[in-house]
Amino acid sequence: MTQLLYMETFGCQMNERDSEIMAQLLGEHSYVQTDTPEQADVVVVNTCSIRGKAAHKAYSCFGRYKKLKEKHHDFILAVTGCVAQQDGAALLERMPYIDIVMGPQSIYALPSLVAAFRRDRKPLVATDLSAEFIIPPFLPNLAEGPAHKRFITIMQGCDNFCTYCVVPYTRGREISRSFADILAEATHLVEQGVKEITLIGQNVNSYGKKGDAAQHKSFPELLRAVAGIDGLKRLRFTTSHPKDLSEDLMRCFAEIPVLCPHFHLPVQSGSNSILKQMNRKYTIESYLDKVARLREYRPDIALTTDIIVGFPGETDDDFAATMQIMETVQYHGAYSFKYSDRPNAKAADFPGKVAEEVKTGRLARLQARQEEIALAFKQAEIGKAVEVMVEGASKAPANQWSGRTGTNQIVNFSCERKLVPGELLVVEIEGACQNSLRGKMI
Ligand code: SAH
Ligand code: SF4
Ligand code: F3S
Repeated sequence: MTQLLYMETFGCQMNERDSEIMAQLLGEHSYVQTDTPEQADVVVVNTCSIRGKAAHKAYSCFGRYKKLKEKHHDFILAVTGCVAQQDGAALLERMPYIDIVMGPQSIYALPSLVAAFRRDRKPLVATDLSAEFIIPPFLPNLAEGPAHKRFITIMQGCDNFCTYCVVPYTRGREISRSFADILAEATHLVEQGVKEITLIGQNVNSYGKKGDAAQHKSFPELLRAVAGIDGLKRLRFTTSHPKDLSEDLMRCFAEIPVLCPHFHLPVQSGSNSILKQMNRKYTIESYLDKVARLREYRPDIALTTDIIVGFPGETDDDFAATMQIMETVQYHGAYSFKYSDRPNAKAADFPGKVAEEVKTGRLARLQARQEEIALAFKQAEIGKAVEVMVEGASKAPANQWSGRTGTNQIVNFSCERKLVPGELLVVEIEGACQNSLRGKMI
């Protein structure tokens, strides 16, 4: 009998891909996704714990499902992802209406956990972070997720232990997937019509160093192999740790035509003493050197970054150094955050916590300047003809379409013809605003 599944996903691309996998696994057991939680037999909330705010979002979401269970009907509530891993059995004690608590390494066990709960009606916790964990071979079903572009998880976990970060505790030790499994998955996707693939992991630059990929293939070798799949139009990857960015990887940007000219290279801070406190293991000088090398290999490369303001001990001078790095590098985009304490992360015990209003002020200044820089990049595109991959039709008006450049900028454009997502075409850019470009097809 068909059962209805409702999923809610927070957090990063790793979590998005995990949600697709869970939906597919339950799909193989007669579960069909629904948009209305009121009708669901199983609700899965895939949570994120990266910052205090993200975890709060998850907790308030649980509260909504509690009410729904009381008011409406009983369903199985499974909490997965990084909050589930972090809080484990404590979640069940605090929120007895949760039925299953399951960490990121256990996603492949979801159908058996749901079946066991149905049978025994006893709450279940699966949060074992075993170092022997192997990511099983898995071919994606195109029904779960967009048809023209997909993520492939190439590794799991993180060994870097940046002092602010919860990920090494929620995703466990770094493990690379088998080279052959990734290639099989990528080939399968392209054969199904997928045009763009993004390889994802917390630190893709150290791919192949640990785990099942220990056929000793490196990340550049993986990129070249995936790029060689006939029919693939665009290849991307994220995220990279600057300390592990090799010359070989930089060279890929000059040598692999389908590799998009976009690099997300989180800097976190412009101050060497803060970087040291963060345990980032690079200096601003070495970071800038890599930025320069990347631009030599691929002059049109768009750089984006992550920045934390208000890390413990951050002075006005440290923050000024971060503002300076924005000027020096000129990022196409930046995700910036106020530092928040995370469970188990070392910096939670560091002295010199920065007052909330100081963090707020710094973040606002940083974001205002970054918006100007990003807008200037967009304005510089006006008059140019750029290659765009079609994403879909805009809601209104008619004949308006939306797509992305290789540099990952959104382009809204007009075209009379009916387009297919994944199609590549050339658009003349006529205007720019903060979040997108606009133009017409030529
Ligand atoms: N693996 C990636 C990032 C994963 S988390 C990397 O190494 O870059 C995404 C971003 O969240 C981080 O780059 C960082 O900028 C931010 N972040 C992580 N922990 C945080 C915390 N405790 N407070 C504020 N921002 C945080
Ligand atoms: Fe977190 Fe650092 Fe690992 Fe990124 S590299 S996931 S910021 S510990
Ligand atoms: Fe969030 Fe976990 Fe991803 S904490 S950012 S869902 S790895």
